[in-house]
Amino acid sequence: MIQNIILLLFFFLLPLLLFFLIKPSSSSSNIPKSYPIIGSYLSLRANAHRRIQWLSDVVRASPGATFTFRRVLGTKSIITANPANVQHILKNNFPNYRKGSIFVGTLSDFLGNGIFNTNGEDWKFQRQVASHEFNTKSLRNFVENVVDTELSDRLLPILSGAAANQEQTLDLQDILQRFAFDNICRIAFGYDPQYLNISFERSNFAEAYQEATEISSLRFREPLPLLWKLKRALDIGSEKRLRIAVSQVRDSANKLVREKKKELQDNSSLRSADMLSRFLSSGHSDEDFVTDIVISFILAGKDTTSAALTWFFWLLSKNPRVEKEIVKEINEKSEAPVYDEVKEMVYTHAALCESMRLYPPVPTDSKEAVNDDVLPDGTAVKKGMMVTYHVYAMGRMESIWGPDWAEFRPERWLERVEGGGSSWRFVARDSFSYPVFQAGPRICLGKEMAFMQMKRVVAGVLRRFRVVPAAAEGVEPEFITFLTSQMKGGFPVNIVQRQV
Ligand code: HEM
Ligand SMILES: *[C@@H]1O[C@H](CO)[C@@H](O)[C@H](O)[C@H]1NC(C)=O
Ligand SMILES: *[C@@H]1O[C@H](CO)[C@@H](O)[C@H](O)[C@H]1NC(C)=O
Repeated sequence: MIQNIILLLFFFLLPLLLFFLIKPSSSSSNIPKSYPIIGSYLSLRANAHRRIQWLSDVVRASPGATFTFRRVLGTKSIITANPANVQHILKNNFPNYRKGSIFVGTLSDFLGNGIFNTNGEDWKFQRQVASHEFNTKSLRNFVENVVDTELSDRLLPILSGAAANQEQTLDLQDILQRFAFDNICRIAFGYDPQYLNISFERSNFAEAYQEATEISSLRFREPLPLLWKLKRALDIGSEKRLRIAVSQVRDSANKLVREKKKELQDNSSLRSADMLSRFLSSGHSDEDFVTDIVISFILAGKDTTSAALTWFFWLLSKNPRVEKEIVKEINEKSEAPVYDEVKEMVYTHAALCESMRLYPPVPTDSKEAVNDDVLPDGTAVKKGMMVTYHVYAMGRMESIWGPDWAEFRPERWLERVEGGGSSWRFVARDSFSYPVFQAGPRICLGKEMAFMQMKRVVAGVLRRFRVVPAAAEGVEPEFITFLTSQMKGGFPVNIVQRQV
């Protein structure tokens, strides 16, 4: 009710008046028109169902690949796909671009003071303690124990079952999310939720987590934060569902923390057994804070690799040539021990990078300016403005990738080794042209771990199976985004045994 009245007032009556009095500030066809008070809200509204794609088109058509977006009530925000600007924001002038009050405020009911939602000392501390979990020894343990048992005990049996019954369709995206959920919980907290185990009776931790993620991210789409804040105050609709989901998530995470605490009291030699134990032994063992940390790490690990792999398998089904190269690489490396095998899968690595270029798991990322500033391309930034870099758009820039940017071509990341016969060498791009894992001091901590996991899954699956989309040929899945990207409606597939 209240929401409708406010909406009516701001988005209909006022603009209608002004519409006839004042000319819009832009006339080029790709660039959205902007009106006083409501800014470009009308264009945003009209494109709400394809927000990422629309903003990507706008940014790509803007001079210098940077666009100043006018929001409701005159607030402006900057959206850029210019690598020099990205380098400036994420590295050269890092202290001036923080997780801002809008971001933090919108997500704090869910994420509290977890690593994604903090700045300064709180962030530094979490990053430092967590970074132990990402050294070579931990990574090796991760691949050889956690990923591999999840793969052979849970994922492959499910795929075998589906391969034996061609009538059966699987939602591969859902399966990959469950896989990643188990993985992150085991590596970070030493706890196995068995989310991919069909015969295990599950708690609703993961479902509640999914709901909390979705509703939290939908808050960003409200034209004014006031709207969701009102709903929250009245405890109605989506905000009521969010409150319930968040309290379920917090209860489960908190239970985990308390159990771990007890374990540590009983046996102090477990102090560095996993990341959660490290946090609890670090002197900052406030239960609420550690619960926040747990919740943020699940977010980091759960939907990122699963999104990347979902689009990867879909792209392979459309590019049999690339699939053939990958299978060849897998078969050549199959003699090597697991950890080295993963390290040496150069072509597969390139194909994953290429897939995330077109379908990045984190398609946009926003910061807030602490003080006035000027970006390298001359764009003026005012204190308090949101500055967003558009990763999805950057993967589609001709100026970065050349005229064939729309093609799925892993070879753009590779060069032939001189005198090495048919072997490849991986050629990385700078992280400002390809900020899929962010860049600078806050670059993704789990990047290497993510690649390990994804390459292991790719090898394990493609060695034995082909993944065939169940949708009719020519049907393009839709790329949508909550806090991370997803394939809309899941990824229904049939699994076919590979002939060897
Ligand atoms: C393909 C998979 C992944 C992608 C594309 C990815 C991407 C990103 C991005 C874009 C950020 C910056 C987010 C922000 O600050 O707003 C980030 C941060 C982070 N990622 Fe990842 N990530 C992936 C997998 C993982 C995994 C498996 C972990 C393991 C736990 C992880 C741990 C983290 C952590 C802890 C941060 C916070 C770093 C900080 O703020 O200092 N990520 N990641
Ligand atoms: C799955 O759950 C069942 C029932 O709790 C259990 O007996 C079985 O060992 C689990 N399987 C795996 C692979 O974890
Ligand atoms: C404590 O944990 C260590 C490492 O897992 C184990 O070897 C040891 O037996 C445990 N001690 C007790 C008293 O349970």
